Amino acid sequence: MFEALTPQSLDPIMATFARFTADPRPGKVNLAVGMYYDEAGRIPILDVVREAGKRVTAEVQSWGYLLPTGLRPLCDAVKRMVFGDRLAGSEGSRIVTVQTLGGTGALKLGADMIARMAPDTTVALSNPTWGNHPTIFEGAGLRVESYPYFDKATGSVGWPAMRDAVAGMAPGTVLLLHACCHNPTGADLTREQWSELAELLADRKIVPFLDMAYAGFAEGLEPDSYPARLLIRHGGPLFIATSFSKTFGLYGERVGTLSIVTHRPEEAALVADQAAVAIRANYSTPPSHGALIVSTVLNDSALREAWVDELDGMRRRILNMRQGLQDRLTGNNLIDFAALTRQRGLFSYTGLSPAQMSVLENDFAIYGVSDGRLCMAALTEDRLDPVAAAIKAASAIEQPALGRSPGT
Ligand code: LMR
Repeated sequence: MFEALTPQSLDPIMATFARFTADPRPGKVNLAVGMYYDEAGRIPILDVVREAGKRVTAEVQSWGYLLPTGLRPLCDAVKRMVFGDRLAGSEGSRIVTVQTLGGTGALKLGADMIARMAPDTTVALSNPTWGNHPTIFEGAGLRVESYPYFDKATGSVGWPAMRDAVAGMAPGTVLLLHACCHNPTGADLTREQWSELAELLADRKIVPFLDMAYAGFAEGLEPDSYPARLLIRHGGPLFIATSFSKTFGLYGERVGTLSIVTHRPEEAALVADQAAVAIRANYSTPPSHGALIVSTVLNDSALREAWVDELDGMRRRILNMRQGLQDRLTGNNLIDFAALTRQRGLFSYTGLSPAQMSVLENDFAIYGVSDGRLCMAALTEDRLDPVAAAIKAASAIEQPALGRSPGT
């Protein structure tokens, strides 16, 4: 069984995380993995999570199994969060929402279901995209292709090329979209582009699959839900992966959901069966502890409000860090990271080359992903000076490819 095995590498994000974890140097900085750190450099436990955790411990009656589709109050609350009260009320009976093992679990469940329901489906991923997207969809046995997304020259979405590619896709293609805070580029579609895209998808019968892992980190929870609320108006099918890893700081609890918008309630019941069977055959039932915490917060109006405040605070702190880093890099002859404050979400796509990222890692114990992605949410006031100095030193070995002012 094992004789023909060859070494396998993890995707660059996890591989870098593994090297970071093994690095004995004190003061090492993890700007590789998408986790939010507070000003003290800790991955915080949110106040609302502490409060909800106390309530869960005090009130839980047993740790018996959930059903395969998970905690119902959580799933109902997520429908309202993603679609808003009005749409969740009027359209809720054609939406299936099930609990998953984080956002990755939602993507994997969606991929497995698509492979069961329509095995010949092609899944189109943005170029570039999160390193685990291709692995998940290929791993489910689906064909994967990529569509143009990021325009290096402008540092934003290359919309005409993306629109033309989508217009040429075969009906039934699944189009994976990042609802906001595109990972890794931080470049999002504008509302006008979303509207145009929604029309195109309906016209071409292309199935959108939204990855909403970062909703709340671009403009706020409500505005960041815009793509979901727009796309549901165009009918179905629509898949939405939601994660509570970043927005609740519950990375290790693995709480997420998959929502699938169908055309009518009878279809929703059949799709829910597909989800339940796929989950049962995979891990049987999801864990309850983290799900109870999120559900407690989302179903209590005071806690929910406090959570949105904490989420806004995280978003504002990241913006300050982006500005702080940009201020320290501006005016340098080699680099002008103007894009740092334009990009949204946890990451900046700096344009630093793999060789420059190696300098950061080897010489300064600052870890980022080899494609130049750095996690702005892991910066602190204390880290800004050393990180900026290290970036300047790394940039001196060659010009970064992105983030230059026009004309430089
Ligand atoms: C990331 O992009 O760093 C996060 O989504 C964490 C992960 O699992 O890759």
